[in-house]
Amino acid sequence: MAALNVSKLGNPVLRKPSEAVPKEAISSKAFQRLLDNMVDTMRACEGVGIAAPQVGVSKQIAVIEVKHDARMQQPIPLTVLINPRITAAASTTLEDWEGCLSVNDLRGRVPRAAWVEVEMLNRKGEKVRFRAEGFFARVVQHECDHLAGRVFLDRMPNLLTLSHLEEFARFCEE
Ligand code: NI
Repeated sequence: MAALNVSKLGNPVLRKPSEAVPKEAISSKAFQRLLDNMVDTMRACEGVGIAAPQVGVSKQIAVIEVKHDARMQQPIPLTVLINPRITAAASTTLEDWEGCLSVNDLRGRVPRAAWVEVEMLNRKGEKVRFRAEGFFARVVQHECDHLAGRVFLDRMPNLLTLSHLEEFARFCEE
C-alpha cells in the first residue's frame, strides 16, 4: 500500500501527452506495483478515477472506481485502463459537475458525450472493449483527457459555473 503524491495544475506533466505502454511491460513487477499504487492513491484521495500523469508518470494508464454516487444506479467496479482509446462516442452530450484531484477545491459544469466505446488493455495485457454510459462515460472521458494533457477546465464552454467547493455546497449542488 502506497499512496503517491498527486501532481497539481501547473505541473507540466499534466499538460504533456503521455506515452503508450508497451504490452510486454505490463506483467513486470514494477508496472503492477505502479497500478496498485495508483489504486491506493485514488482511494486515499476519495477520487473516482486517477490517471498516471497525476502521479507524475507520463504513461497512458488510468484507474476508475466508483463505490457509490447519487448519479449512478450501480457502482463502477475497479477498472484499470492501459492505452485506452475512445473508438466511438455519442453525438449527444450531457452536462454535469466535475472536479479533479489535480485541480483543488473547484467544481465546474462540463458537457461530455452521453456514451463512449473504449478499446484498451487490462492489467493482464488483454485487449478489452467496453461501452460506458452516463457517469461512467464521463469519468472515462475525464481520465482519457488527462492522458492527452487536458483537464476538465479545458472542456468547459465557459467558466461561469466554476465554483469553490465551499460555495458549491451552498449554492450549486443539485
Ligand atoms: Ni482529473
